[in-house]
Amino acid sequence: MTQSKQTRIGFLCGSLRTDSINQQLSKALQKKVKSAGGKTGVIDLGKYDLPLYHGDLKTPDNVKKLIRRIKGFDGVIVISPEYNGGLPPVLKNAIDWTSTVETGHISGPVYGIASCTPGPMSGIMVMRQIQFILMRLGADLVPVQVGCGGAANAFDKKGHLIAQPASMLADKLIAQMFGRIAARG
Ligand SMILES: Cc1cc2nc3c(=O)[nH]c(=O)nc-3n(C[C@H](O)[C@H](O)[C@H](O)COP(=O)(O)O)c2cc1C
Repeated sequence: MTQSKQTRIGFLCGSLRTDSINQQLSKALQKKVKSAGGKTGVIDLGKYDLPLYHGDLKTPDNVKKLIRRIKGFDGVIVISPEYNGGLPPVLKNAIDWTSTVETGHISGPVYGIASCTPGPMSGIMVMRQIQFILMRLGADLVPVQVGCGGAANAFDKKGHLIAQPASMLADKLIAQMFGRIAARG
């Protein structure tokens, strides 16, 4: 695809764990976005160190910083583990904190969703919940989601995503995001 300006895709992972399989998936998706001609950046929730939200707390400056960071991207891919069929607290907490300030960072970029699990189920429950929450906040979401089960055999030694249908779904998701971003002009 010819681009007058490089498409900027941000990667936001719901796991901060050092050996996270979702971070692995994020890195593999970053490789694919770069191969497709895009520019990548990481939205590292660990850097913002947000306290657990409750209504008596003053909004930390880092909430506004996180919003600004997300708004700097044309598209955002949320890659998340599934915890008991739902969202990990670090991700839900970031969505909740930022939504108390504004929702422009949700309704602005084009969003994609991905999840990686050790077992075969590939995070379908958490992806559905993330989809629901982001749509409720006005997100423009592409329909394809990248569910990657069986993490132990999903990547090659160089970190490329080799599992199917996950790799094919990732190519589709990226193509849909690039297409939607390009259509906006
Ligand atoms: C509290 C908790 C709940 C979990 N619940 C699920 C689950 O519902 N479905 C699932 O596939 N894996 C579940 N797991 C396993 C995670 O998928 C696994 O720990 C995974 O490696 C976490 O992602 P990460 O490696 O990116 O940190 C759970 C793990 C934890 C710690």
